[in-house]
Amino acid sequence: MSPKGSTILVTGGCGYVGSHTVLSLLESGYKVVVLDNLSNTSNGGTDAAATNTPEALKRIQEILSIDEPIPFYPVDIVDKPSLIKVFEAHPDISAVIHCAGLKSVGESGRRPLDYYNVNIAGTVYLLQVMEDFNVRRIVFSSSATVYGDPPVIPIPETSPIVASMSPYGRTKVFLEHIIRDLCVASSVKQKEYEKEQADKGAKVEIDYRWSAMLLRYFNPAGAHPSGIMGEDPQGIPNNLMPYLAQVAVGNLEKLTVFGNDYPTKDGTCIRDYLHVVDCADGHVAALEKIERDESEGKFECKAYNLGVGTGCSVLDMVRAFSKAVGRDLPYEISGRRAGDVPNLTADPSLANKELNWKAVKTLDQMCEDLWRWQRNNPNGFRTQK
Ligand code: WQD
Repeated sequence: MSPKGSTILVTGGCGYVGSHTVLSLLESGYKVVVLDNLSNTSNGGTDAAATNTPEALKRIQEILSIDEPIPFYPVDIVDKPSLIKVFEAHPDISAVIHCAGLKSVGESGRRPLDYYNVNIAGTVYLLQVMEDFNVRRIVFSSSATVYGDPPVIPIPETSPIVASMSPYGRTKVFLEHIIRDLCVASSVKQKEYEKEQADKGAKVEIDYRWSAMLLRYFNPAGAHPSGIMGEDPQGIPNNLMPYLAQVAVGNLEKLTVFGNDYPTKDGTCIRDYLHVVDCADGHVAALEKIERDESEGKFECKAYNLGVGTGCSVLDMVRAFSKAVGRDLPYEISGRRAGDVPNLTADPSLANKELNWKAVKTLDQMCEDLWRWQRNNPNGFRTQK
């Protein structure tokens, strides 16, 4: 049971979704511990190890007007001894929101072993350490990419998951299976333990069962409305909206639209872009679902789509962001990008109903918030304030 006010470990808590999730947790009354290897965010030129407070967490403190530093550990999830030290230092950790991992579709094709090592082995080490410290609640960062090229749009959670898209996508599929297997095994173990205790006339003192929420993100985009926190990708962004934002601030010349010959309304791919703050709130909602379920003796492993339920094409997004920026952003059409599928639009009704969560921010808000962040921080956290 992780009642409000208990401590949640957020792995990858300095990353884009992770940092917004840390903020949402703190705003919802949870205590947070953050672990991140800082491979995909900058520290604004400061040395995290020296200051022990990465820039992303400093911005969260500023937004919340809190002086107390957020407990942070510059740890890589493949470093199991260091993972153990974090749990030893925080025996009040009651659940983990697991966002840490490598996340580039294209890069994963070039570095598959790194992706399997970090995403798969790293997550297995995390699950092992959680088990050893009796922390058996996880909210896992999965992805719509697990649906491959789905047969039905909008996509329900019952749509088959396929390990065909990329090594990155395969890590998400494998991890969903790994977590599901763990949950099933834990229920069997609990039944055997309870029978042993009953045969001995002893009390049941441990609950070995796991609860897991597998959150299939569609396309998180935008930034916190404060304008001081947002996506801070290292190098040239792979994803559409951070790339477009860099074009808007003049760091990149123009957007390359990867193909306009798809079977869609304007030939460009359709995606379900959800505001990153809505996405972050979805993690808190998932945690609260676990708390509700376990208070009723239910221990589940279940996948939920985090999406709006509305598809936007690449050109729709160029238009929407150009409107926020106040000028037409330049782009050119090129060939298709390997691995892209025509349409990934969520059916979010299961999350709406069972997580009591719904994406509420509009496309205009997403674009306005992204523009406010990017124009204030043209070089992300490296922009000196
Ligand atoms: C969206 C659309 C591109 C860049 C992937 C992963 C998902 C998540 C997000 C990690 C596509 C087009 C993009 C550009 C373009 N991963 N595009 N020019 O591919 O839907 O999802 O990234 O967070 O798990 O699967 O997102 O933003 O890369 O692309 O035309 O410079 O924009 O072809 O149609 P995607 P994306």
